[in-house]
Amino acid sequence: MSLDEPKGQIAFTLNGTDMSLAAAPTTRLSDMLRNSAGARDVKVGCNAGDCGACTVLLDGEPVCACITAAGQAEGRKVETQAGLVGADEDALRLAQAFQRHQAAQCGICTPGMMVSAIALLRSGEVLTEDKVADALGGVLCRCTGYRKIIAAVLDAGGAAPTDDAPADGAVGAPVARLDGWPKVSGAELFGDDVAPADALTLRVIRSPFHRAGFTFGDLDAYRDAAGLDLILTAADVPGENCFGTIPGFEDQPVFAEGETRFKGEAVAAIVGRAEALATLPDFPVTWEERPANLTPKGAAQAAQLHPTRADNLMCRGLVRRGDAAGAMAQAAHVVSGDFSTGFIEHAYIEPEAATARRVGDRIEVQCCTQAPFMNRDGLAGILGLPPEAVRIVPTATGGGFGSKLDLTAQPFVALAAWKLNRPVRIAYTRTESIATSTKRHPSEVHMEIGTDETGRILAARFDGTFNTGAYASWGPTVANRVPIHASGPYLTPNYEANSAGIHTNTAPSGAFRGFGVPQSAVAQEQLYDLLAEKLGMDRLDFRRMNCLTNGAPTVTGQVFDTGMGIDACFDALKPAWDRALAEAEAFNATHADRKRGVGVAGGWYGCGNTSMSNPSTIRAGVTPAGDLILHQGAIDIGQGSNTVISQIFAEALGVPVSQVTLIGPDTDVTPDAGKTSASRQTFITGNAARLAGEALRSQILRLGNVGEGAVIAFADGAVELTEDGVTRRIDLPQAEGYALEVVESYDPPTLPLDENGQGEPYAVFGTAAQMVELEVDMELGTVKLLNFTAAHDVGRAINPLLVEGQIEGGIAQGLGLALMEEFLPGRTENLHDYLIPTIGDVPPVQSIIIESGDAHGPYGAKGLGEHCLIPTAPAVLNAIAHASGARIHHLPATPDRVRAAILAARDQATA
Ligand code: FES
Ligand code: FES
Repeated sequence: MSLDEPKGQIAFTLNGTDMSLAAAPTTRLSDMLRNSAGARDVKVGCNAGDCGACTVLLDGEPVCACITAAGQAEGRKVETQAGLVGADEDALRLAQAFQRHQAAQCGICTPGMMVSAIALLRSGEVLTEDKVADALGGVLCRCTGYRKIIAAVLDAGGAAPTDDAPADGAVGAPVARLDGWPKVSGAELFGDDVAPADALTLRVIRSPFHRAGFTFGDLDAYRDAAGLDLILTAADVPGENCFGTIPGFEDQPVFAEGETRFKGEAVAAIVGRAEALATLPDFPVTWEERPANLTPKGAAQAAQLHPTRADNLMCRGLVRRGDAAGAMAQAAHVVSGDFSTGFIEHAYIEPEAATARRVGDRIEVQCCTQAPFMNRDGLAGILGLPPEAVRIVPTATGGGFGSKLDLTAQPFVALAAWKLNRPVRIAYTRTESIATSTKRHPSEVHMEIGTDETGRILAARFDGTFNTGAYASWGPTVANRVPIHASGPYLTPNYEANSAGIHTNTAPSGAFRGFGVPQSAVAQEQLYDLLAEKLGMDRLDFRRMNCLTNGAPTVTGQVFDTGMGIDACFDALKPAWDRALAEAEAFNATHADRKRGVGVAGGWYGCGNTSMSNPSTIRAGVTPAGDLILHQGAIDIGQGSNTVISQIFAEALGVPVSQVTLIGPDTDVTPDAGKTSASRQTFITGNAARLAGEALRSQILRLGNVGEGAVIAFADGAVELTEDGVTRRIDLPQAEGYALEVVESYDPPTLPLDENGQGEPYAVFGTAAQMVELEVDMELGTVKLLNFTAAHDVGRAINPLLVEGQIEGGIAQGLGLALMEEFLPGRTENLHDYLIPTIGDVPPVQSIIIESGDAHGPYGAKGLGEHCLIPTAPAVLNAIAHASGARIHHLPATPDRVRAAILAARDQATA
């Protein structure tokens, strides 16, 4: 549709209200609802009918509003999530069920899920899991793993819904998400939901080639002829035309200069009214396509991407302990193999979006992000401003998983708003998001592991090459973290792990849940199965015998006296393992065309930055009126930090969590809680919250001169202290600002690594063991997942339901890595070519929560986010091999690859 198409009046009913809006009949219904009717609860994730986020009811039938013409609404009834929850009993019951089951994580898919579910509930059908999956099958969720969504719909459709979600509870209670109701009621505002009506729109001009030179024509003439307000290029960047995430590796330009290094790289931006952008002549740029290199193999011979990085080597990582070569030579059993994984796209359902406005000599940016202070400092460098002149006001973030740590849309709108002194907005298209956002590093790994006669691991050698793309992003973190983790959570006395990050002409690889560890686990855990097979040992027993325990050194020589809980994870799987093996054997005895297999894998992950300071700060106060305020700056991208950190704070203070009023992230009013990554928020910001709660408690107890055991409550303008059955009321000082205030920080204790990678890189490791049961079609090579059992040592479950949500969501992403996902630059830039797991792909998940406690974690809690998918892919691959004999070395294990491996295994058996 073009905006110069004649508009007519479209009359329809929106959530019970008669409307008549001026719109061209071919306008997307989603655009009319969002932009003209103000229905921002209709979300847009793809504009192509792929994600279902935009689902509304049209005369009671669910439709994707992005591929429905507005004209089709003429004379009909449109219902959206917010309207439904406000007026419909089924919808309200469903919203309450979503809260009870924590079925909304980030919440961006929730409108589509709920609207689809309401149509099902209204049908009056007797609900089954299959019917729910069918009804919701067109809506994608990247966070939850779908299981809690199914449970919520079944609950809402049941005769006797379960109790309401508890609004209160101490550490350990499944308290309802404090930020949950806006997500289930349709009130949540994401990155593209906050732009003011008068904002100009920005569009980025990007390279159509993997590598190209370029020259601009007459930009001023183009701007005037097209009626644009502004054109931006590198020449318009007042500060540094570069940004990055790791000190010393800030190498990515806002706008390329002279040459683009990957397809989709920005060279310019145009800014104008939506009407002007709708009918544009071709942008005056001449491209000169140049030879490009897309894989590390050709990198040393390819054109050098960065002047100081010879052979396109970004950096290396190393951990060396004992004598790996010598011990390997003595090993009784040795296995080795080559394994590779491809680019994995984060595929959050909310594309990147931001709005900026200039306020005097400051710039304010509202955006979806995982790292507001990092974004602030990066923007300040680009704009040539002091950091204090930049304010980041995060919106809700519709999934991140690592990629929304980096600056994306923010520099463009900030530069434009700064120059124009007008609000400027952008929302990436799905193609723009997939083509240009950071990815999981493709990996090429060679690994060798040896054991003694009894099966004890003697040595491991690991060599990993990681495609870091055109720019560093979080590549150095991956290169450094992988060698520390590539042994897995197993005692490995002799060890050498090398890694290298290599530049290519592809989108930058960055942070993605696990920072390279899931890729190394694919190699290590498959080789452990091969070793167990050689030894004639049960695969779970082999891992249990070799796993790390308290008191045993890791490959960096770090020894944990408490909290190394991987042994308990394997033990917890044992009953399900024995049952599953017996069931698979019985099934396989009577089936030739389909075979069942059971796979297991372990995983570990060090929480927080590697041997680097990464503090979090929490501020809290009590107003003179007696309101308890928590300034909680950890971005909640759906994982639950708003709730978990409030629970920890309330526990330390000694009050119910319902008394806490949250002030969310805003770099002007909330201290720096660091970035939401590396499974650090529960552990690090949680500790800052614990310290803040304890400090505030001490202040209050001192104020009342009462003992440690006194009970605190807040009343109008006072604190009430109860001790030995006697309650005293202490009036709060009538001060400006807070009557009582605390600010506390926590930075985890780590030690630097020496030249051999020996040291104490993390204060806390989380561990996990997962097993999967599946079925392989021996003729087609298709894989049907039947069941996951996942044992995770979280130290202490601050909120067990949130823990389950993380596990289920991580498993869904892990099975995508194993079976279906691969980003091919220039080819899979939308959600119908790049496939992620749907509701029908994720089988039941039994979560087993292990609470081994931790010396450093708040109330013993560890981080969890990354661990959840680390064992998933290798467990799936091991189960495929168990079922079919097909050992998959190159991911994803698509049916053609599985079938080829089955045939290869048969050939080998008959050779
Ligand atoms: Fe309509 Fe994705 S936005 S289906
Ligand atoms: Fe479904 Fe985030 S909760 S995409």
